[in-house]
Amino acid sequence: MSSALAKIEDFPPDPVEFFKEILQAAAKGHPEGFMQEMNLATVDDEHGVLNRTVLYRGLTQDNFVFYITHRYTRNFKNLQANPKACITFYMPDVKDNAGNQSSWQVRLIGATAVELPESEMDALWAKENLAAQIRGHICPCGEPINYDELKAKHDQFLEEHKGKLIERPASYTAWKFQPQRWDFLKVGIDQIADRVQYRLQSSGNWESMHVST
Ligand SMILES: Cc1cc2nc3c(=O)[nH]c(=O)nc-3n(C[C@H](O)[C@H](O)[C@H](O)COP(=O)(O)O)c2cc1C
Repeated sequence: MSSALAKIEDFPPDPVEFFKEILQAAAKGHPEGFMQEMNLATVDDEHGVLNRTVLYRGLTQDNFVFYITHRYTRNFKNLQANPKACITFYMPDVKDNAGNQSSWQVRLIGATAVELPESEMDALWAKENLAAQIRGHICPCGEPINYDELKAKHDQFLEEHKGKLIERPASYTAWKFQPQRWDFLKVGIDQIADRVQYRLQSSGNWESMHVST
């Protein structure tokens, strides 16, 4: 049996830069089609809190994490009613330059969701794959559904749109997140984790520190 303390050695002054570094390292072992998911927790009237997995779509021009959804989903309605949210990323296989493997959790704490402007939606919609575009038209999110009926609807939609551009539905939208804190946790096998937290100051600067796990 062994035990050690993980140590986050070098970290840049800007948390977004740190996040990009870790993401890049996580993607290294997966040259094709690397996708990063994130867990999004929102305040929900009925359940108190509700979380779900969504796809990380990158950073906006002003450097905020964003994801894409539809206005008919619960996650959209939750954020519209209360923009407070928390996000976690889990990256289980990140190698440093020396080849040592660690897992990382990156958490956006006290984040405020801001909907992206309509003017940015066409470009995002154009990059969606066919299944995602069809889903946007035929799926009543969260409602009971009959597979055979949905399949018939899907197949008909596919047939009618063969070789045609699929129009962006009005429900298609995206949210970015402005966090108060970024929390980075690193741990390896038989290690006690290390954490680095960035806290947004009233000056707009980030203060960073190691915090206990
Ligand atoms: C790998 C994965 C990626 C997903 N990506 C998204 C996404 O980007 N946007 C989204 O609205 N739902 C996404 N979902 C579906 C959500 O987890 C969720 O089921 C759906 O949004 C309805 O959740 P709600 O009732 O909390 O709104 C994804 C699910 C999985 C498993």
